[in-house]
Amino acid sequence: MAEYSFDIVVIGSGAAGLTAALNLADRYKVAVLAKAGISDGSTAWAQGGIAAVLEEGDTFESHIEDTMVAGAGLNNRATVEFVVENAPKAIEKLAALGVPFNPGGDERWHLTREGGHSHRRIVHVDDATGQAVQRALEQAAVAHPNISLFPDRAAIDLITGKHCARYSGDGHVWGVYAVDRATGTIETFTGRATILATGGASRAYLFSTSPRGSTGDGIAMAWRAGCRVSNMEFNQFHPTCLFNTEVKNFLITEAMRGEGGLLKLPTNGRRFMPRFDKRAELAPRDIVARAIDHEIKRLGLDYVHLDISHKPAEFIEAHFPTIHARLLAIGIDITKEPIPIVPAAHYTCGGVLIDMKGRTDLPGLYAAGEVTQSGLHGANRLASNSLLECFVFGDAAAEHIKRHFDEMPTPPAIRPWDESRVTDSDEEVIVQHNWREIRRFMWDYVGIVRTTKRLERAQHRVALLRQEVADYYGNFRVTPDLIELRNLVDVADLIVRSALHRKESRGLHYTIDYPDMLDEAVDTILVP
Ligand code: FAD
Ligand code: SIN
Repeated sequence: MAEYSFDIVVIGSGAAGLTAALNLADRYKVAVLAKAGISDGSTAWAQGGIAAVLEEGDTFESHIEDTMVAGAGLNNRATVEFVVENAPKAIEKLAALGVPFNPGGDERWHLTREGGHSHRRIVHVDDATGQAVQRALEQAAVAHPNISLFPDRAAIDLITGKHCARYSGDGHVWGVYAVDRATGTIETFTGRATILATGGASRAYLFSTSPRGSTGDGIAMAWRAGCRVSNMEFNQFHPTCLFNTEVKNFLITEAMRGEGGLLKLPTNGRRFMPRFDKRAELAPRDIVARAIDHEIKRLGLDYVHLDISHKPAEFIEAHFPTIHARLLAIGIDITKEPIPIVPAAHYTCGGVLIDMKGRTDLPGLYAAGEVTQSGLHGANRLASNSLLECFVFGDAAAEHIKRHFDEMPTPPAIRPWDESRVTDSDEEVIVQHNWREIRRFMWDYVGIVRTTKRLERAQHRVALLRQEVADYYGNFRVTPDLIELRNLVDVADLIVRSALHRKESRGLHYTIDYPDMLDEAVDTILVP
């Protein structure tokens, strides 16, 4: 069994993980793990851009206010201020790393608009911002002599005192056990500090805009290790995912509505959003997704239309080159016809509870990015605030580690992974079947509109699956698929329990049994 020892272990190679690693690498040796390719997280899939106050006439106060309004008052104001005020600096850093943000006319950068924002404040690289950001961060990481990248390492569990040669119950985190996808061997990665940057859990749902790896691994690992997890009921459904039998999980950016795209009924070509909200297509996401869901169910449709074909073809091709080309390849010319779309699971607003320095409940363990609940998003994330959160908290965690590194104890001897009582699985079908089952009942029972009865049905199924997966996990050698399944069960459980706990409708959590919003906004905090 390989044993790797570094100063700091970062689990995740998206915007949050690489930001932290690059900051730390000037002084320390850093390992960065990814469970598949280094660029396979959500970061590279981001389309619209990054929100920041960058133009005369816009203000921090306005960005803060928009974030709080979208978040239905559940946001932590101090966190929102911290992130919004650090946004321009984060953009400057990215530009210095070589991210080629689209230039503006009179202004330095072109700013686009998205739902819930009262100003144009989204910097972007065409309609493929995430790819440009991931590329720049990755190139810098590859070039840095103090960063070692480990692709194809699926983290299994955090190493805590109970895994040490001399047992300790203090909960300190010393690194992680991971399986090498190529060889199937289990390795240990240890360091004085560990940063979780494993992204979200949207693949707990059948239909999702997110990459395959968004299975909430970090949330589940932190929960099992003893961290509190918060606000998991707030799963964001993006209103406009392409509806197509061949191309799945393809987002149509909100910026398309920001630039004039309209939502229409396929039955009569009429707009419906003005009936639901005075901001119409530019209302916050929870409202737009619920309106689409309502119209789909009311009229028995498979999808509704997003139409930008009334704009000049050159404008559309210039603003949305990636989407234009991708849809043209499957026979949809967006300059001439509308796009069939449905809402799909997109973003996990809840997660591992952190403070403003990226600290979790456990000594030695930090977290940043979509895996966390930092207080920024509240009950509904404002569009394009999430990449921003990755940069600000990736840096915050790194800064805190740097300030305290010398006081941090060095890792003790760790017990090797014990595989003496397991065999190779002869029933892979169980893993595949249970994967599908979770994602199906989460979509049907824990989706955009909820009821207590449906949530209870989901809870019952989670309990059955938990038993089955635990038996399987105890008897067979771990594989990346089994790790994800085990984590999905934990995450589904956390989402359902949080949803049952909230006796009101707020932001993304809408339940027919409690349709009103209570006066007081209170976080859901689950304690292991
Ligand atoms: P990710 O980028 O998802 O990276 C997670 C990393 O963790 C990966 O390297 C993965 O391999 C690794 N990992 C996970 N589990 C394990 C494990 N068990 N072991 C080892 N490694 C593991 N946000 C915006 O602000 N603006 C946008 O325009 C925007 N557009 C989006 C478009 C799409 C289609 C999607 C899906 C999301 C979009 N978002 C956008 C959201 C944003 O992209 C994500 O919230 C953000 O990229 C998350 O970054 P992260 O670093 O936290 O995680
Ligand atoms: C989009 O481009 O619509 C996604 C933006 C986001 O999720 O913040």
